[in-house]
Amino acid sequence: MLDRTSHIPLAAQLAGRLREAILQGTLRPEQTLPASRRLAAELGVSRGVVVRAYEQISGEGYLESHGSAGTRVAVRFDGRGTPAVKTTPRPAAVREAMIDLTPGRPSGEPFRDREWRAAWKRAIAEPVQIELPPASGTPALRAALARHLGASRGLTVDAGDIVVTAGTSDALQLIATALRSLGKAPRVLVEDPGYPTARRVLTAAGALVEATPVGDDGSEVRQLSSLASPPDAILVTPSHQYPLGGRMPVQERLALLDWAEQNRVTILEDDYDSEFRHTRMPLPALASLPSNAEVILIGTFSKTLSPWLRCGYLVVRGAAGERIKRTRQDLDTPVSGILQSALANYVDGGGLARHIARARRQYAHRRALMIDRLGARDDLKLAALDGGLHAIIRIDEQVDAREVVQEAFKQGVCVVALEDYFAEGAAENGLVIGYGAPSDLQLARALDVITAIIDRKAKSSTSGSA
Ligand SMILES: Cc1ncc(COP(=O)(O)O)c(C=O)c1O
Repeated sequence: MLDRTSHIPLAAQLAGRLREAILQGTLRPEQTLPASRRLAAELGVSRGVVVRAYEQISGEGYLESHGSAGTRVAVRFDGRGTPAVKTTPRPAAVREAMIDLTPGRPSGEPFRDREWRAAWKRAIAEPVQIELPPASGTPALRAALARHLGASRGLTVDAGDIVVTAGTSDALQLIATALRSLGKAPRVLVEDPGYPTARRVLTAAGALVEATPVGDDGSEVRQLSSLASPPDAILVTPSHQYPLGGRMPVQERLALLDWAEQNRVTILEDDYDSEFRHTRMPLPALASLPSNAEVILIGTFSKTLSPWLRCGYLVVRGAAGERIKRTRQDLDTPVSGILQSALANYVDGGGLARHIARARRQYAHRRALMIDRLGARDDLKLAALDGGLHAIIRIDEQVDAREVVQEAFKQGVCVVALEDYFAEGAAENGLVIGYGAPSDLQLARALDVITAIIDRKAKSSTSGSA
């Protein structure tokens, strides 16, 4: 299997094969690799070749040494065949000592909040129910969410318009299943670059996913109008394009609604982090603008509280809403009743709003820290800082962002390449930095590590080309 005539050293060839096997899932997470001596004998190479290959991909984060218990595969990937797995090693459990800048992770504070604990205490004290929770959610949580969305997002919502979900992925699965019930595989346009998990989930749920390009302000309606045939649905992130950060202006929102209405396209509005605006007020949700277009708003507690909860909601209306509720009933997958009770208590008691206000201040502070550390550099372009809990750094082409990711991982910082979010369009060179979970100190340290790597690589590339 190793080519002795190649100019590529045997250890590098073996490292490449092992990396490929891990990426393709042939070698699974936690699987123990053969001892170096045994593999060397099997391959007919010296033990040093195997040791060097193991060391190389251990340094990249793919393997972990467990002393006498052997060397094991250390990473779990975000799915198969999606852009998220193309290049960047993504560890399953980032080791304690690592500073984790993977986007999408909020601060862990809500679980230390007194009001959160009190909400659970009250939920536990309620009489134990012995039937399934209602398919679309408990009346208490749906009503609490309707009030919360009115106050925080200016949405006029009826409790009956809400469907409680186990988060965005569950919501997308539900929507794809409901669309499929109309008779054929639904075509769904998804922003490119966009949220890789959404592409994966929709595909797994039987949708035909197509890419739609993104401009500075998010999805471009002009491009949609030139499509040969309209899709069944389009998934957009108008508040804060994921991951580039564009904010769709109201005029563009109205044009999107108009196009959707005329072409009978369902808009899936992923409103994943609109609670965290740092510079300007959030623009009105598509779901709140006057239009006869079908809009489904997808909300999640993953950013406001934690992905650990696996809870979110949909705001659905009209015929699409009825279809979704029916499908929810058919699928028989309600969200845990006790979780819904605790959340309803937390939302109604004002705990969630207070937590969001605290978290917003924290994130605004870390955002300022990002600007302070990186804003003055000409070689790095900071973006997506208007809101949310991630930012992007575009890097000069002379430094390969994927190499920065790998090097940073070796130095204890887990960060993701911007390239991973592109499906078809030409990928941009850069990093996506999640600043929700690390402390200020960790973030500052991680940025120091990253900038030092970039500086070193830029210097060696200029001295190499001189
Ligand atoms: C664009 C986008 N939408 C939604 C979510 C939340 O997904 P879920 O609710 O399934 O945790 C994320 C999380 O990272 C995201 O990046």
